Amino acid sequence: MSKFMDWVDARFPATKMWEDHLSKYYAPKNFNFFYFFGSLALLVLVNQIVTGVWLTMSYTPSAEEAFASVEGIMRDVNHGSILRLLHAVGASMFFIVVYLHMFRGLLYGSYQKPRELVWVFGMLIYLALMAEAFMGYLLPWGQMSYWGAQVIISLFGAIPVIGNDLTQWIRGDYLISGITLNRFFALHVVALPIVILGLVVLHILALHEVGSNNPDGVDIKKYKDENGIPLDGIAFHPYYTVKDIVGVVVFLFIFCSIVFFFPEMGGYFLEKPNFEPANPFKTPEHIAPVWYFTPFYAILRAVPDKLLGVIAMGAAIAVLFVLPWLDRSPVKSMRYKGWLSKIWLAVFCISFVILGILGVLSPTPGRTLLSQVCTFLYFAYFILMPFYTRLEKTKPVPERVTG
Ligand code: HEM
Repeated sequence: MSKFMDWVDARFPATKMWEDHLSKYYAPKNFNFFYFFGSLALLVLVNQIVTGVWLTMSYTPSAEEAFASVEGIMRDVNHGSILRLLHAVGASMFFIVVYLHMFRGLLYGSYQKPRELVWVFGMLIYLALMAEAFMGYLLPWGQMSYWGAQVIISLFGAIPVIGNDLTQWIRGDYLISGITLNRFFALHVVALPIVILGLVVLHILALHEVGSNNPDGVDIKKYKDENGIPLDGIAFHPYYTVKDIVGVVVFLFIFCSIVFFFPEMGGYFLEKPNFEPANPFKTPEHIAPVWYFTPFYAILRAVPDKLLGVIAMGAAIAVLFVLPWLDRSPVKSMRYKGWLSKIWLAVFCISFVILGILGVLSPTPGRTLLSQVCTFLYFAYFILMPFYTRLEKTKPVPERVTG
């Protein structure tokens, strides 16, 4: 075996890669609950790709047959219903995992210097993931697939001058048709997965270049032993590979319980109108995107003007990209930041959740007002950040991790 590895290593850096990224990658010893979600995101990504490949074997991307082929997968294909539900529920789980992963970044200042690029690659993954989920949702060709896509694509029509041509270019037709379905299929199954996989590689390479942050936000590279190993670091393999298995088991328990017993999750994971085939002549009574898009949908609806609404929705995502340059705090972790940062993070999270709930519900004057308040608070968190992070009094950061 060792002779074989010598032969490989002389031609390909297999052992070097194993050491750089696993057995000699020293991660802080105080990782907590929130640090499970990076490896879980990788797990869900693999689940989506594997189940997606098998679904593609029995799916037909045409307006005439798409809906029936999904029904065929659910009823006739061996283990088809499990494959489909692992994929459909997996999409929602992906966003739960990614939102918790991003929240960890906000909590411990993981986006701050020198991890700005880790964050920016993460945000590009998030964008690609939203596009991936949006296009995948059209494929079952149900009522919500059709009308959800109709609402989102028509938003591009609000752009002055080029709006109408642009929507037509995206659809490839004068209305959403089999042509649109075909191109969304190609993008969902081939193009975007490649982009996401590439971005994940860049994300992890950027992280391993600078090293992981931790709940204390302390730089573990400051204190090293005589062999150059950080005193507060432990080898990723075997310590965190084994620890992550605990997260994987708990996650799979929850994931499988949902897939087997409550796959629709009360209409939040699989929306009821999508059990009816797409009908361009019948608009559903109430159109709402899947839960993971609803905070942004609520921001869109909070603004009375369509174009300004689209701009606000775009800005709500764009502002996350520049977060590393808005936070001027001398400390990273929320543990040592002042109370202003803590309050604003809480306000931001509560507003985001309320917007998410409002985005599912049909609008009333009261709800619109509430969504306007929450949109204002959402943006205030970012716009005021350079001020409150600089003004507030921070606590002294310990030299070594506190455990
Ligand atoms: C497919 C989606 C993603 C995958 C597979 C992924 C994977 C990972 C992995 C394996 C780690 C190291 C383990 C850990 O610290 O938890 C990590 C760290 C990190 N990720 Fe992601 N990630 C994804 C999406 C995102 C997104 C959307 C963001 C934010 C916009 C993000 C921001 C970060 C940051 C800031 C770190 C460093 C955390 C620290 O050291 O404290 N990631 N990611």
